[in-house]
Amino acid sequence: MDDFSYEAASTSPDTPLDLSLRPPAFSEFHGQDKVKERLMLMVEAAQMRDDVLEHVLLSGPPGLGKTTLANIIAAAAGTQLHTTSGPQIEKAGDLAGVLTNVARGDILFIDEIHRLHPAIEEYLYPAMEDFRLDIIIDSGPSARSIQLNLPKFTLVGATTRSGMLTSPLRSRFGLINRLDYYNREELAFILERSAGLLDLEITAEGALEIASRSRGTPRIANNLLRWVRDYAQVRADGKITEETAKAALAMIEIDEDGLDEMDLRVLEAAIYKFNGGPVGLSSLAVAVGEDASTLEEVHEPFLIMQGFMKRTPRGRVAMPAAYEKIGAPTPPPSSQESAQGELL
Ligand SMILES: Nc1ncnc2c1ncn2[C@@H]1O[C@H](COP(=O)(O)OP(=O)(O)OP(=O)(O)O)[C@@H](O)[C@H]1O
Ligand SMILES: [Mg+2]
Repeated sequence: MDDFSYEAASTSPDTPLDLSLRPPAFSEFHGQDKVKERLMLMVEAAQMRDDVLEHVLLSGPPGLGKTTLANIIAAAAGTQLHTTSGPQIEKAGDLAGVLTNVARGDILFIDEIHRLHPAIEEYLYPAMEDFRLDIIIDSGPSARSIQLNLPKFTLVGATTRSGMLTSPLRSRFGLINRLDYYNREELAFILERSAGLLDLEITAEGALEIASRSRGTPRIANNLLRWVRDYAQVRADGKITEETAKAALAMIEIDEDGLDEMDLRVLEAAIYKFNGGPVGLSSLAVAVGEDASTLEEVHEPFLIMQGFMKRTPRGRVAMPAAYEKIGAPTPPPSSQESAQGELL
């Protein structure tokens, strides 16, 4: 039960619950106002010109709505969405297979685009720029190159690690959008919408209580809602109030700030094993027994955003809030001196 929210927060296939709660249109997608406004404008402009949408990149931590937005863009533009992901495209032939099924104006959605093989990226450049695919078939003496002309399509890429994209790939997107964590009120709104769809009774305070423990992430909010629903059904009268939400979330050890056991372990390790840091990501990962990329993609951004940790050129540093959180004595300022300077 300890991994409750994290299994669900990783880039795993969406559960049926996710699908049924996924907003189908911009009007039902709450939050990310700037991104939404840009995308809506882009769709409207393309429609006015009877043109195809520019390529779009959506980046940000897991569970914030990248896949949802890709679907909404396609629906708003009235085009078909073809979905694949970086690791699924192993050879040039796979890419050719996908692209030859795409019609003019269609959207090709490549999830986890940072995981595309570098060789495949090379094929993608002319496809994105000139709608042309040069592929080499066969090998050795019989190898020959064929050129396929593609219909004008739109690539929507999603990534949790925009820093890992090569700059040639990045520069081929017309619009780059970064999704940010949602605030408590936005999440409470999303939770009330989800509760409505699931036919659940929830109070405003109940929704806010779940929202504040959802790490700024709608997917986690919906997962916690499902757990609180079960709890309310068995231990209460089915209605989700502040009290039932608190009791239900205490049972799965999600604290008031949404930190779970792994987050606390990260903070404890940084403070007790590495003297508050700076400590390298891989050492920290070994110390807590978690995969380094999960730490970097899932736990760290949230801990940094909440002010528990800081990234410096020399490694990760525990901030005073982290000492307070785990009840450790705050170190004298001098030991933190080396931690000057933010790393972007
Ligand atoms: N703005 C929103 N309003 C309501 N629900 C949302 C919103 N954004 C996301 N959700 C909910 O959160 C779930 C996760 O969103 P989504 O699958 O789009 O995330 P993602 O960014 O693609 O994550 P990953 O990086 O793991 O693929 C959706 O199924 C949807 O129910
Ligand atoms: Mg997704």
